[in-house]
Amino acid sequence: MVDLLALLKKMTVKQKIGQLTLLDFKNQARLEDIKEGRVGALLNIGLDQDTNELQRISMEESELKIPLLIGDDVIHGFQTIYPIPIAESCSWNLDLIERNTHFAKLEAYSHGINLIFAPMVDITHDPRWGRIMETCGEDPYLTSQMAKAKVRGIQKAVDGKIVASCPKHFTGYGAVEAGLDYNTTDYSIHRLKNLYLPPFKSALDSGALTIMSAFTTFNDQPIASSRFLFEEILRKEWGFEGVLISDWAQIEQLIPHGVAKDKYEASLKALSLGIDIDLASKVYLEFLEKVIEDNPDLEEKLDSAVLRVLKLKAKMGLFDNPYTKKVIKPLGADLRKMAKEAADEAIVLLKNDSGVLPLTNTEEKILVIGPYVDDKDVHLGAWAFKGNPKTCISVKEGLEKTFKKAVFYEVKPNDSINYDKIKELSLDVSKIIVTLGEPRDYSGENHNRQFLDLPFNQNELVDALATFNKPIIALVFSGRPLAITDLNKKAASILWCWHLGVEAGNSITSVLTGEVNPSAKLTQTFPKTLGQVPIYYNRYQTGRPELLSYVDGNLEPLYPFGFGLHYGNIKYSQMEVKYSADILQLVVKVLLENESNYPIYEIVQVYLSSKYNQKLRPVKELCGFKKEMIEPGCQKTVEISLALEEHFEDTELMNELTLEIMAGPNSQEGLKQTVQVKGGQVWLISKS
Ligand code: BGC
Repeated sequence: MVDLLALLKKMTVKQKIGQLTLLDFKNQARLEDIKEGRVGALLNIGLDQDTNELQRISMEESELKIPLLIGDDVIHGFQTIYPIPIAESCSWNLDLIERNTHFAKLEAYSHGINLIFAPMVDITHDPRWGRIMETCGEDPYLTSQMAKAKVRGIQKAVDGKIVASCPKHFTGYGAVEAGLDYNTTDYSIHRLKNLYLPPFKSALDSGALTIMSAFTTFNDQPIASSRFLFEEILRKEWGFEGVLISDWAQIEQLIPHGVAKDKYEASLKALSLGIDIDLASKVYLEFLEKVIEDNPDLEEKLDSAVLRVLKLKAKMGLFDNPYTKKVIKPLGADLRKMAKEAADEAIVLLKNDSGVLPLTNTEEKILVIGPYVDDKDVHLGAWAFKGNPKTCISVKEGLEKTFKKAVFYEVKPNDSINYDKIKELSLDVSKIIVTLGEPRDYSGENHNRQFLDLPFNQNELVDALATFNKPIIALVFSGRPLAITDLNKKAASILWCWHLGVEAGNSITSVLTGEVNPSAKLTQTFPKTLGQVPIYYNRYQTGRPELLSYVDGNLEPLYPFGFGLHYGNIKYSQMEVKYSADILQLVVKVLLENESNYPIYEIVQVYLSSKYNQKLRPVKELCGFKKEMIEPGCQKTVEISLALEEHFEDTELMNELTLEIMAGPNSQEGLKQTVQVKGGQVWLISKS
């Protein structure tokens, strides 16, 4: 065991600052920086770099022999790319998410990564924002559950060590106005506490060892200088003792934010307010020594930050053994199998008129057309830096093994639509599968959109196909919800495929043929038009709810939060609400009946609307869910416990609550009961 206090004591100010410096290995760090103790953490290490050699330099050639943190953005896989997070969240499958996060970590660890900049637990109401693809959707309760699963997955021990998780971006980053990354954010403390903070609290309660701050602002401060968020909330209220890491060059950004006049002042502010690690702005490295010299009382702050970093490294087991070994074969068959399972559960069936799907007759001649017929790149999605398009299965590669008579025809984004050619191709086919949507660089950091429609020549292509009177099955790839009202009229079936990762083509084939029955449900509302944005299901209660309207269209989304179809139908009946032995636990029971010949994996959702409160609440809020397999022709009673303490403060729970509880297949449909709850008792008021 290293004596950390003794180690701290013998460090010079320069060496201390080194421990608070995280550099981009590609563009900023030199091996001498490691040797001379100027850097304690690195990111952006290429696959060709031997990370053990970097640790060796630190452990053998530097004076203090402190191991390195080696970070990476393992957002949806490392080399084996899984569905993008918003797609994965549509599985509502916490076990699968935890397992896959753990295996992605194993692949990253095999390359020496010991700090993962994830989970991203931001929430947004604006699909124009490019980073919506990294989120778990719009609901704070669901995001919190997924945050916990992901932290557990990342921090589950490997090789006797812990890889540290770094939930991000603390906080309110998704509130950027107009969906414009890095833009102004302005929201109330009520919204902060009820929407943006809960997923971070959950991630830290699950033991996340570090946290990353957001590029944006809260109240009158950039977050990098927010005393309220860092001192009041994070350290005092939540008692977080782990390491607070800035986002990329964020400390330096206090200058353009207009709250620091130069880098000297920026580093002084950031250290004073508690940012432990400076990620890539190098201002600690270049200015902190002078800051400390001028303000000796700040050395205490410096020491606390350094001690937190040293404790982190000790907790992770790095002082005992900083070296890594291959604990799993990168891109191995087992990892691909998990990527396939995740993709199977991420594809959302939005529409299926007259049961066009599944395609049970594989002898059918179908036309597969559009920009993504044999494209591999689209499936990687954003934030897949170590992914390789060659490892992805295209739609064509997936389908051609099964549909021997299929005809494949690529229409590239800039091609003019050759109407005669596609008419000819369509003549003797029974159905048309059209691949549509956004390339992967249409989402991700600072990849925002002004429009939410299908880009390039795709509307023209769909218009042409619609004139042939053949059922159209649309496969749509995207990093966000799109406003596809027109496509929705023209296509008989729509499968929302997001960016599905390496197994895309195989999963799409499984779903199209019915080998896999789609089970995913949306975690973000799909608007009808761009003008409905911001749009989300859990808006606050308003004074004239019946008057909320537009003169040129209604408020209804195209597809609501929680929506997704299967092949076959589930009937809900016999809803009951009870108290369990635990005084705060309401239990909802509902009977599910699978009336079809397909096995159905149903995501049962429970929402509550609170009828009378001391403060504003959402019109409806998700408060429980369960994913259950119901075999063909079978019934099952599903029981869901609602943790009211996650939704109400203790004082609110002491009062009498009147709750409308809805159990159903999505946020708009379900069986309802209104109950009164007080002192461990529940009275039924009405049923519908
Ligand atoms: C992003 C973070 C990311 C960091 C390191 C920043 O630009 O906002 O999410 O973890 O870069 O790559």
